[in-house]
Amino acid sequence: MPHSVRNEPAEKANVPAHVAIIMDGNGRWAAQRGLPRLEGHRRGVEAVRTVTNAARDLGIRILTLYAFSVENWNRPKAEVGGLMSLLEFYLKQELKTFVKDRVRLRTIGRIDELPAGVQKHLRHTIAETAHFTDYTLVLALNYGSRTEVVDAARAYAAAVAAGREKLNDGSWATFNRYLATADLPDPDLIIRTSGETRLSNFLLLQGAYAELVFTPVLWPDFGKAELVSACAEYARRERRYGLTTDQVKPAPTTTA
Ligand code: FPP
Repeated sequence: MPHSVRNEPAEKANVPAHVAIIMDGNGRWAAQRGLPRLEGHRRGVEAVRTVTNAARDLGIRILTLYAFSVENWNRPKAEVGGLMSLLEFYLKQELKTFVKDRVRLRTIGRIDELPAGVQKHLRHTIAETAHFTDYTLVLALNYGSRTEVVDAARAYAAAVAAGREKLNDGSWATFNRYLATADLPDPDLIIRTSGETRLSNFLLLQGAYAELVFTPVLWPDFGKAELVSACAEYARRERRYGLTTDQVKPAPTTTA
Protein backbone atom coordinates (compact mmCIF):
# COMPACT_ATOMS: atom_id res chain seq x y z
CA MET A 1 0.00 0.00 0.00
CA PRO A 2 1.51 3.37 -0.89
CA HIS A 3 2.64 5.33 2.17
CA SER A 4 0.32 8.25 1.49
CA VAL A 5 -2.80 6.07 1.55
CA ARG A 6 -2.24 4.70 5.06
CA ASN A 7 -0.86 7.82 6.70
CA GLU A 8 -1.44 11.57 6.90
CA PRO A 9 0.49 13.67 4.36
CA ALA A 10 4.17 13.54 5.41
CA GLU A 11 4.44 17.14 6.61
CA LYS A 12 1.50 16.76 9.02
CA ALA A 13 2.12 13.14 10.00
CA ASN A 14 3.82 13.70 13.34
CA VAL A 15 2.46 17.09 14.29
CA PRO A 16 1.04 16.95 17.80
CA ALA A 17 -2.67 17.80 17.78
CA HIS A 18 -2.54 19.36 21.25
CA VAL A 19 0.49 21.19 22.62
CA ALA A 20 0.51 22.59 26.15
CA ILE A 21 3.16 25.04 27.34
CA ILE A 22 4.40 26.10 30.77
CA MET A 23 5.60 29.60 29.94
CA ASP A 24 8.45 30.19 32.38
CA GLY A 25 11.34 32.61 32.64
CA ASN A 26 9.80 36.06 32.14
CA GLY A 27 11.30 37.31 35.40
CA ARG A 28 14.80 36.03 34.61
CA TRP A 29 14.61 37.46 31.09
CA ALA A 30 13.90 40.88 32.60
CA ALA A 31 16.52 40.54 35.37
CA GLN A 32 19.22 39.69 32.81
CA ARG A 33 18.49 43.05 31.17
CA GLY A 34 18.09 45.09 34.36
CA LEU A 35 14.39 45.55 33.59
CA PRO A 36 11.39 45.25 35.93
CA ARG A 37 9.72 41.82 36.07
CA LEU A 38 6.60 43.23 34.50
CA GLU A 39 8.57 44.09 31.36
CA GLY A 40 9.43 40.39 31.16
CA HIS A 41 5.73 39.55 31.34
CA ARG A 42 4.97 42.19 28.69
CA ARG A 43 7.50 40.53 26.39
CA GLY A 44 5.94 37.22 27.40
CA VAL A 45 2.65 38.40 25.91
CA GLU A 46 4.48 39.11 22.62
CA ALA A 47 5.76 35.54 22.70
CA VAL A 48 2.18 34.33 23.24
CA ARG A 49 1.17 36.08 20.00
CA THR A 50 4.15 34.69 18.08
CA VAL A 51 3.67 31.13 19.31
CA THR A 52 -0.10 31.15 18.74
CA ASN A 53 0.52 32.07 15.09
CA ALA A 54 3.36 29.59 14.74
CA ALA A 55 1.21 26.79 16.17
CA ARG A 56 -1.50 27.52 13.60
CA ASP A 57 1.09 27.54 10.79
CA LEU A 58 2.36 24.14 11.91
CA GLY A 59 -1.13 22.63 12.03
CA ILE A 60 -1.31 22.32 15.82
CA ARG A 61 -5.05 22.45 16.45
CA ILE A 62 -5.07 23.01 20.19
CA LEU A 63 -2.64 25.13 22.16
CA THR A 64 -2.94 25.34 25.94
CA LEU A 65 -0.92 28.02 27.73
CA TYR A 66 -0.33 28.11 31.50
CA ALA A 67 -0.82 31.84 31.99
CA PHE A 68 -1.65 32.06 35.72
CA SER A 69 -1.56 29.29 38.32
CA VAL A 70 -3.51 29.07 41.57
CA GLU A 71 -0.15 29.55 43.31
CA ASN A 72 0.64 32.77 41.39
CA TRP A 73 -1.70 34.77 43.68
CA ASN A 74 1.10 34.57 46.28
CA ARG A 75 3.38 36.80 44.18
CA PRO A 76 3.78 40.48 45.15
CA LYS A 77 0.48 42.34 44.79
CA ALA A 78 1.89 44.71 42.15
CA GLU A 79 3.04 41.79 39.97
CA VAL A 80 -0.35 40.04 40.23
CA GLY A 81 -2.12 43.32 39.37
CA GLY A 82 0.27 43.88 36.46
CA LEU A 83 -0.34 40.39 35.10
CA MET A 84 -4.13 40.87 35.32
CA SER A 85 -3.88 44.22 33.48
CA LEU A 86 -1.73 42.64 30.79
CA LEU A 87 -4.24 39.83 30.40
CA GLU A 88 -7.16 42.24 30.09
CA PHE A 89 -5.28 44.37 27.55
CA TYR A 90 -4.31 41.25 25.58
CA LEU A 91 -7.93 40.05 25.43
CA LYS A 92 -9.18 43.48 24.29
CA GLN A 93 -6.55 43.67 21.56
CA GLU A 94 -6.68 40.07 20.41
CA LEU A 95 -10.38 39.55 19.68
CA LYS A 96 -10.03 40.93 16.12
CA THR A 97 -7.13 38.56 15.43
CA PHE A 98 -8.98 35.55 16.85
CA VAL A 99 -11.92 36.28 14.56
CA LYS A 100 -9.68 36.87 11.52
CA ASP A 101 -7.72 33.67 12.16
CA ARG A 102 -10.80 31.67 13.21
CA VAL A 103 -9.37 30.76 16.62
CA ARG A 104 -11.71 29.66 19.40
CA LEU A 105 -10.72 30.88 22.87
CA ARG A 106 -11.35 28.70 25.91
CA THR A 107 -10.18 28.67 29.48
CA ILE A 108 -9.49 26.16 32.21
CA GLY A 109 -9.24 27.16 35.86
CA ARG A 110 -11.41 28.99 38.39
CA ILE A 111 -12.35 31.93 36.20
CA ASP A 112 -14.94 33.34 38.60
CA GLU A 113 -12.15 34.28 41.06
CA LEU A 114 -10.41 36.56 38.50
CA PRO A 115 -10.92 40.36 38.55
CA ALA A 116 -14.29 41.43 37.11
CA GLY A 117 -12.72 43.25 34.13
CA VAL A 118 -10.73 40.17 33.08
CA GLN A 119 -13.82 37.97 33.45
CA LYS A 120 -15.89 40.34 31.32
CA HIS A 121 -13.38 40.30 28.45
CA LEU A 122 -12.89 36.56 28.75
CA ARG A 123 -16.60 35.82 28.56
CA HIS A 124 -17.05 38.20 25.63
CA THR A 125 -14.11 36.75 23.66
CA ILE A 126 -15.17 33.17 24.41
CA ALA A 127 -18.73 33.89 23.20
CA GLU A 128 -17.55 35.68 20.04
CA THR A 129 -15.22 32.84 19.03
CA ALA A 130 -17.26 29.84 20.24
CA HIS A 131 -18.28 28.79 16.73
CA PHE A 132 -14.75 28.35 15.37
CA THR A 133 -13.64 24.73 15.09
CA ASP A 134 -10.23 24.66 13.39
CA TYR A 135 -7.98 26.04 16.14
CA THR A 136 -8.45 26.34 19.88
CA LEU A 137 -6.41 28.45 22.26
CA VAL A 138 -6.90 27.36 25.86
CA LEU A 139 -5.71 29.77 28.54
CA ALA A 140 -5.09 28.12 31.90
CA LEU A 141 -6.00 30.91 34.33
CA ASN A 142 -6.17 30.52 38.09
CA TYR A 143 -5.54 26.87 37.18
CA GLY A 144 -3.98 24.05 39.16
CA SER A 145 -4.46 20.30 38.65
CA ARG A 146 -5.22 19.65 42.31
CA THR A 147 -7.99 22.27 42.53
CA GLU A 148 -9.32 20.96 39.22
CA VAL A 149 -9.52 17.43 40.67
CA VAL A 150 -11.17 18.70 43.86
CA ASP A 151 -13.75 20.60 41.78
CA ALA A 152 -14.34 17.54 39.57
CA ALA A 153 -14.71 15.20 42.56
CA ARG A 154 -17.22 17.59 44.13
CA ALA A 155 -19.25 17.83 40.90
CA TYR A 156 -19.11 14.06 40.42
CA ALA A 157 -20.25 13.44 44.01
CA ALA A 158 -23.13 15.90 43.51
CA ALA A 159 -24.13 14.07 40.32
CA VAL A 160 -24.10 10.74 42.19
CA ALA A 161 -26.17 12.25 45.02
CA ALA A 162 -28.67 13.60 42.48
CA GLY A 163 -28.93 10.19 40.80
CA ARG A 164 -27.40 11.42 37.52
CA GLU A 165 -24.34 9.14 37.89
CA LYS A 166 -24.01 5.68 39.42
CA LEU A 167 -21.07 5.35 41.80
CA ASN A 168 -20.25 1.84 40.59
CA ASP A 169 -19.93 3.02 36.97
CA GLY A 170 -17.08 5.33 37.96
CA SER A 171 -14.60 4.71 35.16
CA TRP A 172 -11.91 7.15 34.04
CA ALA A 173 -14.07 8.05 31.02
CA THR A 174 -16.89 9.03 33.39
CA PHE A 175 -14.72 11.04 35.79
CA ASN A 176 -12.96 12.76 32.88
CA ARG A 177 -16.26 14.43 32.00
CA TYR A 178 -16.04 16.45 35.22
CA LEU A 179 -12.58 17.88 34.53
CA ALA A 180 -12.18 21.37 33.06
CA THR A 181 -10.77 19.75 29.92
CA ALA A 182 -13.72 17.36 29.44
CA ASP A 183 -14.25 18.29 25.80
CA LEU A 184 -10.56 18.48 24.85
CA PRO A 185 -8.21 15.67 23.85
CA ASP A 186 -5.25 15.11 26.18
CA PRO A 187 -2.09 17.06 25.33
CA ASP A 188 0.34 15.12 23.13
CA LEU A 189 3.27 17.35 24.00
CA ILE A 190 3.97 19.47 27.08
CA ILE A 191 6.78 22.01 26.78
CA ARG A 192 8.36 23.93 29.67
CA THR A 193 10.70 26.81 29.03
CA SER A 194 13.51 28.31 31.15
CA GLY A 195 15.36 25.11 32.06
CA GLU A 196 13.05 24.03 34.90
CA THR A 197 12.09 20.37 34.70
CA ARG A 198 8.85 20.24 36.71
CA LEU A 199 5.15 20.11 35.82
CA SER A 200 4.15 22.47 38.65
CA ASN A 201 0.54 21.29 39.03
CA PHE A 202 -0.19 21.61 35.28
CA LEU A 203 -2.40 19.04 33.49
CA LEU A 204 -1.12 16.24 35.73
CA LEU A 205 -3.89 13.80 34.78
CA GLN A 206 -4.33 14.88 31.17
CA GLY A 207 -0.56 14.68 30.63
CA ALA A 208 -0.38 11.04 31.76
CA TYR A 209 0.90 9.94 28.32
CA ALA A 210 2.20 13.28 27.01
CA GLU A 211 5.72 13.65 25.73
CA LEU A 212 7.63 16.22 27.79
CA VAL A 213 10.13 18.63 26.26
CA PHE A 214 12.18 20.98 28.45
CA THR A 215 14.14 23.83 26.90
CA PRO A 216 16.53 26.31 28.52
CA VAL A 217 15.10 29.14 26.38
CA LEU A 218 13.33 31.79 28.49
CA TRP A 219 9.69 32.32 27.49
CA PRO A 220 10.09 35.82 25.95
CA ASP A 221 12.73 34.33 23.60
CA PHE A 222 10.60 31.32 22.63
CA GLY A 223 9.41 31.66 19.03
CA LYS A 224 8.56 29.65 15.95
CA ALA A 225 12.03 28.06 15.62
CA GLU A 226 11.84 26.80 19.23
CA LEU A 227 8.32 25.42 18.68
CA VAL A 228 9.44 23.66 15.50
CA SER A 229 12.38 22.18 17.38
CA ALA A 230 10.13 20.91 20.22
CA CYS A 231 7.79 19.35 17.64
CA ALA A 232 10.75 17.71 15.89
CA GLU A 233 11.81 16.21 19.24
CA TYR A 234 8.22 14.98 19.72
CA ALA A 235 8.24 13.39 16.26
CA ARG A 236 11.41 11.42 17.17
CA ARG A 237 9.83 9.96 20.30
CA GLU A 238 8.04 6.63 20.30
CA ARG A 239 4.74 6.82 22.16
CA ARG A 240 3.94 3.44 23.68
CA TYR A 241 1.00 3.91 26.09
CA GLY A 242 2.25 0.98 28.16
CA LEU A 243 2.70 -1.36 25.17
CA THR A 244 5.91 -2.97 23.94
CA THR A 245 7.96 -1.46 21.14
CA ASP A 246 6.91 -4.31 18.83
CA GLN A 247 3.25 -3.67 19.52
CA VAL A 248 3.41 0.00 18.58
CA LYS A 249 5.81 -0.31 15.62
CA PRO A 250 3.87 0.61 12.45
CA ALA A 251 3.52 -2.18 9.90
CA PRO A 252 6.29 -1.96 7.28
CA THR A 253 5.18 -0.06 4.19
CA THR A 254 5.36 -2.06 0.99
CA THR A 255 6.05 -0.39 -2.32
CA ALA A 256 3.11 -0.40 -4.69
C1 FPP B 1 6.48 32.61 34.50
O1 FPP B 1 7.59 33.45 34.49
C2 FPP B 1 5.35 33.24 33.88
C3 FPP B 1 4.19 33.58 34.51
C4 FPP B 1 3.94 33.33 35.94
C5 FPP B 1 3.11 34.24 33.83
C6 FPP B 1 2.98 33.93 32.36
C7 FPP B 1 2.29 35.06 31.79
C8 FPP B 1 2.50 35.60 30.57
C9 FPP B 1 3.39 35.02 29.58
C10 FPP B 1 1.83 36.85 30.20
C11 FPP B 1 0.34 36.85 30.28
C12 FPP B 1 -0.29 35.80 29.43
C13 FPP B 1 -1.24 36.00 28.52
C14 FPP B 1 -1.88 34.84 27.87
C15 FPP B 1 -1.70 37.33 28.10
P1 FPP B 1 8.26 33.84 35.87
O2 FPP B 1 7.78 35.19 36.25
O3 FPP B 1 7.99 32.79 36.89
O4 FPP B 1 9.76 33.86 35.48
P2 FPP B 1 10.99 33.56 36.47
O5 FPP B 1 10.86 32.13 36.92
O6 FPP B 1 12.18 33.79 35.60
O7 FPP B 1 10.89 34.56 37.60
